[in-house]
Amino acid sequence: MLIAGNWKMFKGPAEAAAFSRELRQVALPDDVDVVVCPPYVSLEPTVQALADTDIGVFAQNCHWEREGAFTGEVSAPMLREVGVYGTLVAHSERRDWCGETDETAAARVRTALAEGLHVIVCVGETLAEREAGQTDAVLRRQVGVLEHDDNLVIAYEPVWAIGTGRTATPEIAQQAHETIKSLLDLPVLYGGSVKPDNARELLAQPAVDGALVGGASLDVESFAAICRAGSLT
Ligand code: 13P
Repeated sequence: MLIAGNWKMFKGPAEAAAFSRELRQVALPDDVDVVVCPPYVSLEPTVQALADTDIGVFAQNCHWEREGAFTGEVSAPMLREVGVYGTLVAHSERRDWCGETDETAAARVRTALAEGLHVIVCVGETLAEREAGQTDAVLRRQVGVLEHDDNLVIAYEPVWAIGTGRTATPEIAQQAHETIKSLLDLPVLYGGSVKPDNARELLAQPAVDGALVGGASLDVESFAAICRAGSLT
């Protein structure tokens, strides 16, 4: 079971360090792997504040080249240098706003893994795609560019459930996760309006191996409650 908190564009260095110091005081279950994903500038203070804990620190993105003329980008070796353990790749907000494609996503995943980072790669259909009956085809396309790797995890985040309070039902999540696992046998996290009060039901689904949490990961108590909900499920 893996619970990852994606802070998106929240928590600068001071706030990230304060959150991390608070989180390390909280009793988290031993059978749950816990990860936080701060913005780039907050990675190093978070790594330092969580040193000597089992909580992993992931970036939210990582370039597919190791270095070069890519203004505004950050590479896998740079992330490794500041002690980052892994990275998210191809979050739907990056597919939506930053021109991420299946091909650039696959390139980022390949380089990050080759450089020794763990990777959570995000997939998921939009509302229009679901309503048009294209969910399976979209997942096939997005997962089809990926290859199996022991350090790779997939996050199923239906775009219509992100930040909307509209969570996928446990049945919808289970079905999509089964589809993804039939394409690539990897752990699959669910993401999209996961909260303390719906986490247990979602995480109890057999094909749900954890959660990628946005809004509810910004508060120590609600994030810890979701981590506890992942225990013994
Ligand atoms: P919310 O939990 O805020 O819906 O965000 C989900 C998400 O995008 C995590 O990556």
